Amino acid sequence: MKFSVSKSLLALLAVASGVVAQDKGSIVKPAAGTALVPGQPFDFEYFGLADYGVSSYAYSVWLLTADVVDKPLTVSKAFTSGVFLGRFDYPNYPAVPYAAHPAPAQLTTPDFSKAQGGWGSGLSASNVNLTLAVFEETADGAGSIGHKISFAAVPVIYNATLA
Ligand SMILES: *[C@@H]1O[C@H](CO)[C@@H](O)[C@H](O)[C@H]1NC(C)=O
Ligand SMILES: *[C@@H]1O[C@H](CO)[C@@H](O)[C@H](O)[C@H]1NC(C)=O
Repeated sequence: MKFSVSKSLLALLAVASGVVAQDKGSIVKPAAGTALVPGQPFDFEYFGLADYGVSSYAYSVWLLTADVVDKPLTVSKAFTSGVFLGRFDYPNYPAVPYAAHPAPAQLTTPDFSKAQGGWGSGLSASNVNLTLAVFEETADGAGSIGHKISFAAVPVIYNATLA
């Protein structure tokens, strides 16, 4: 008799037994498809990769115009536009015993219509699909050239208009 176990079942068993390391963190909030209002706060929560044997040093949050959720990046001079919302950390022993820059419970959606200073002008826009992206810096016993940088992202909608 042939004995076969499906790949997904194996993956499930591996996860259940805790032997598979995750390759990216989770953006708990905002949920995919959340409408972000210019100038207004939105709930933010990130669940990182730190674990026994994996140290997390920091994670950076960006709001990008590139649609890069589950898609390969296309690199060009300006491969995307967007804004940096902050670099945070969370306690994970022994790398970061106490968070020096814990993320606030809410981040603020920029008003992109405002002039940016210098040559940069703003741009009014509505119903724009943006990507909320988190780059997390970790390292483990395997060694790496600099930190290992993971990428997690959710699609959000900037300045959604009703119906
Ligand atoms: C948001 O959308 C409205 C309706 O299209 C527009 O009038 C307004 O300028 C937009 N706001 C920003 C900050 O772009
Ligand atoms: C924005 O995303 C939604 C949901 O994926 C999609 O239906 C819509 O076509 C997108 N809009 C643009 C301008 O790409």
